[in-house]
Amino acid sequence: PRLLVLHGPNLNLLGTREPQIYGSTTLADINRALAVRAESAGVELEAFQSNHEGALIERIHAAREQGVRFILINPAAYTHTSVALRDALAAVGIPFVEVHLSNVFAREPFRHHSYFSDLAIGVISGLGSEGYSLALEFLLSRLNAD
Ligand code: DQA
Repeated sequence: PRLLVLHGPNLNLLGTREPQIYGSTTLADINRALAVRAESAGVELEAFQSNHEGALIERIHAAREQGVRFILINPAAYTHTSVALRDALAAVGIPFVEVHLSNVFAREPFRHHSYFSDLAIGVISGLGSEGYSLALEFLLSRLNAD
């Protein structure tokens, strides 16, 4: 795929997981919307979710072999903990956008720090599931500029 969407831990529970924070949209809904939009743009997009840090890291390594141009990632709780996932993105050098459903800066202090933001092209936080669509629009325009 040219675009890879990565979803971190617990995002498989979207829809039922703390809906007052994360909304009622499911991960399948999000992935479907992204797939439809990418297809209309003629761009190959793949989405991958895992609750395991190592699985996400290995998917990032594979992305380099596949020639993935951009990654859209919600690292979920790994945002605040994972040097290993950060290092994987730095290692492959694939530019990425960081997305969070909730506004992490309006929440607990431990969510204010991200191991990813300083490496990201940019960050969207607090726009709910629309944040993914907006990030995709940005990446599609970047692909077009190639
Ligand atoms: C999240 C925010 C993180 O702090 C949290 O651990 C998540 C989801 C978000 O999308 O708002 O699992 O990344």
